[in-house]
Amino acid sequence: MASESPGEATLNATCGVSAGHVDGQPAWVLRTRRTAVVVCVGDDRSLLLPYWGPDGLTDDPNAYLPFRQANRRSERQFLDGQPLAYPVYGEASFKEPCLVVSRADGSRVVRLQFVKGRVEEREERRGLVLVFRDDVIGLRLEQRFEVFEELDVVARSVAVHNQGTGPLTLERVLSAALPLPPGDYDAWTLHGQWGREFELHRRPLEAGKFVTDSRRGTSSHEAHPWFAVGRRGEPAEHDGSVWFGSLAWSGNWMAVFETERNDALNVAVGIQPFDFEWKLQPGEQFVTPEVVMGYSDSGLNGAARLLHAYEESVQLPAQQRDLLRPVIYNSWEATNFNVTLEHQLQLARNAAELGVELFVVDDGWFGARNNDRAGLGDWAVNLSKLPGGLRPLVDGVHQLGMQFGIWVEPEMVNPDSDLYRAHPEWAYHAEGRSATLGRNQLVLNFARPDVRQAIHAQLRDLLSSHGSIEFVKWDHNRAWTEVGWPEHPDQQREVWVRHVRGVYEVMAQLREEFPRLIIESCAGGGGRSDLGMLRWTDQVWMSDNTDAADRLQIQYGYSRAHSPRTMVNWVTDVPNHQTGRVAPLEFRFHVAMQGVLGVGGDILTWPVVDLAATRDFIETYKRLRPLVQRGR
Ligand code: DGJ
Repeated sequence: MASESPGEATLNATCGVSAGHVDGQPAWVLRTRRTAVVVCVGDDRSLLLPYWGPDGLTDDPNAYLPFRQANRRSERQFLDGQPLAYPVYGEASFKEPCLVVSRADGSRVVRLQFVKGRVEEREERRGLVLVFRDDVIGLRLEQRFEVFEELDVVARSVAVHNQGTGPLTLERVLSAALPLPPGDYDAWTLHGQWGREFELHRRPLEAGKFVTDSRRGTSSHEAHPWFAVGRRGEPAEHDGSVWFGSLAWSGNWMAVFETERNDALNVAVGIQPFDFEWKLQPGEQFVTPEVVMGYSDSGLNGAARLLHAYEESVQLPAQQRDLLRPVIYNSWEATNFNVTLEHQLQLARNAAELGVELFVVDDGWFGARNNDRAGLGDWAVNLSKLPGGLRPLVDGVHQLGMQFGIWVEPEMVNPDSDLYRAHPEWAYHAEGRSATLGRNQLVLNFARPDVRQAIHAQLRDLLSSHGSIEFVKWDHNRAWTEVGWPEHPDQQREVWVRHVRGVYEVMAQLREEFPRLIIESCAGGGGRSDLGMLRWTDQVWMSDNTDAADRLQIQYGYSRAHSPRTMVNWVTDVPNHQTGRVAPLEFRFHVAMQGVLGVGGDILTWPVVDLAATRDFIETYKRLRPLVQRGR
């Protein structure tokens, strides 16, 4: 149901979105269970967001407005001090812009003027769509606010439409900005590296800018597209005001925290503008990823609970959303690339006796994959390792009463592979430049439809030709370099986005073809475990570091942004493969049981007493699992 009228959204008393006026201009109050957001049209017809905070129990936008800053008289036309909801390059504003657009004649001034608003109602969500236009260049921009009243969050995005007669180039198009009133703020962000993902950092936001981002192709280990902002000095774990956002995007991204000269804060979030560009031909539209934002007065924990609830009830793939995640055994640390039928079946027999429900064969089962120097790209069974193909292993695992899962790394190719020998141009490359290898592999250009089709066809065959494969671990083990597409120079700067959309597309196809498939996202551990990926995958392998003591930190950081039902943890051998630490089995289990439990050690060598204890821990976990995976 939608209503659209110039400047007025329909008022509905039971709905979380109501329309009113501020200073004679249209305004809206978006109310959730505990919070309210006010947006209004400014004097220059751009969009302001003067309030995001506790619900004021009223639909009157004026009741929420503390945030007014007068400019010097001579600069009255400037937008300094205005709480811009979406700063645009071309307005009289000096904030980090969310939108930069150029025309063929080189002009880059954009002025968005409010046209109309409409309220949309769909199931449990309300949407406010505000339409703006720049008539000079024929640009239409929709500000989209999806209001999840029960979940206390708002998902924001924009859609940019070229309604003019000439091409437009989007030089940047972020998802949203969050302006906060003058004050002293701290920011929390997540950072790390391989094996040390999700370290929570708190820093004061002083005058100037703080930027956190990724330019690696994936959302990255180094920084995670999540943030929280609170008032300096306030407690933060269980109490205190916290504004937060999580960007549903699995590629390059950026968040800029900017403290202006009047000490107001502006947080701008979206697709990384560096090396990005998108050609928008007349009639075409570009829609940004959503950033899910909210406010909590219960500190980081309150913010985390809101994000968990959103992830669990809206974002995760609907088919498996409510499924209790099975207890996993993953053979990677036990076998590395040395996959053989007999060894895997031995592990499977032991795993079944321990109470494991899903047996996953990791890397090493395909192509010429005897080490990490060959085979990626050739997703056919290595018949010298598995002479009868996969079927005997799949059947053997099923006969033991477990589900069967398999590892793939679809976006990658080893130069030593049949795929690369046949199609070297399918990997990113720059003419006249050597390609940098990472883990001896190159990145396939998933922006290319032929690449996506070929890889999708291989995966579809894999999943349909060997009996029922219930689970896929989708890995991605290197950052992108020489991201060139010389055959398509006009789309060169679009590849960062087209690739990510291409990955989503292939995952969506597989989910449709295999509706019961569980997909685990992995990128050398947690290099791509963002909210965007969790639209298409069910759970995350968030670190290769399985040391339980280190893991406490990693799991804590991850849980700021993501729910326990997506957080996969294995109990592995001692001394730990990554750190050498020897920790008691009980501690290792208690840490791993805080999310989706798995076992990842060489269980053929574990002492009998440890195996007996493992059986008990798994049994206990199964009893606690509904609480762990579904609790708050
Ligand atoms: C990186 C993953 O994080 C590991 O769990 C394992 O799957 C290896 N890749 C396999 O190459």
